[in-house]
Amino acid sequence: VDHLLGIKELSKDDIQLIFETTDHFKEVINRPIKKVPSLRDITIANIFFENSTRTKLSFELAEKRLSADVVNFSSSNSSVKKGETLLDTVNNILSMKVDMVVMRHASPGAAHFLSRHIKANIINAGDGTHEHPTQALLDTYSIREKLGDLTNKKVAIIGDILHSRVALSNIYALQKLGAEVMVCGPNTLLPKYIKELGVKVSLDVKETLEWCDVANILRIQLERQQLKYFPSLREYSLYYGINKKLLNSINKEIIVMHPGPINRGVEISTDVADSKQSIILNQVENGVAIRMAVLFLLAQKKQN
Ligand code: CP
Repeated sequence: VDHLLGIKELSKDDIQLIFETTDHFKEVINRPIKKVPSLRDITIANIFFENSTRTKLSFELAEKRLSADVVNFSSSNSSVKKGETLLDTVNNILSMKVDMVVMRHASPGAAHFLSRHIKANIINAGDGTHEHPTQALLDTYSIREKLGDLTNKKVAIIGDILHSRVALSNIYALQKLGAEVMVCGPNTLLPKYIKELGVKVSLDVKETLEWCDVANILRIQLERQQLKYFPSLREYSLYYGINKKLLNSINKEIIVMHPGPINRGVEISTDVADSKQSIILNQVENGVAIRMAVLFLLAQKKQN
């Protein structure tokens, strides 16, 4: 059975095939009739052990536009609260003849664990601080839509790199597509192993903005921080927050991205988030077509 567990396991050709398939589905969902019958005989369970707005709704819309049968599960109102394990939960759902599982979980490796123990396609919708593959696919697809081929494009990822699955998946995807990557944030929010990933590292946000074509700005993930947070949100915003004044102080117009949810006034100001430079809502729009492509390609492999 094939899965989408992380970008690490994908080749450049895999990503290009997902992009070409996404181009097709993007055209499909802009037609008056947005629905196609491709996944008519497939049943998909979206199981979310962590909160989500974009990823959950985007997968559900993608599945419905492919005519799949869809069931949704949130751990917060489930029997997980009575002590049921992850494996028992998923095996019970699969007994109801489910073909694919889209899962978000707080534990890094949770999707890999499931893929070793159950017979269904597993799609990782975010596993703790590890990977968020469909986010990286929609991010790199959105850059490609604006700038063309990513070869030698300069992409900066700014913010809480240490706790971010979006950062790691984006680094893998950008490097496989030939882009140069710089990460930027305070030392306390950069993982110790960051240089081993082959990225440039900067502690200076202005220097980073002057270098890049695209800045992907990340949220401070307070929910994942075990230690007392340093710097404070106020200090973070002062030294690393992206605002219009800072963007105007560099000599070019870069593209601004954010995976959401945004903390307005912390990592990004409202005048930047809502500016013409921002492609934040294009990213969300592209997310549905990307997820349609991933589900379609996995279902096709299943049939072959
Ligand atoms: N970008 C993202 O994963 O958002 P959600 O947590 O709302 O799904």
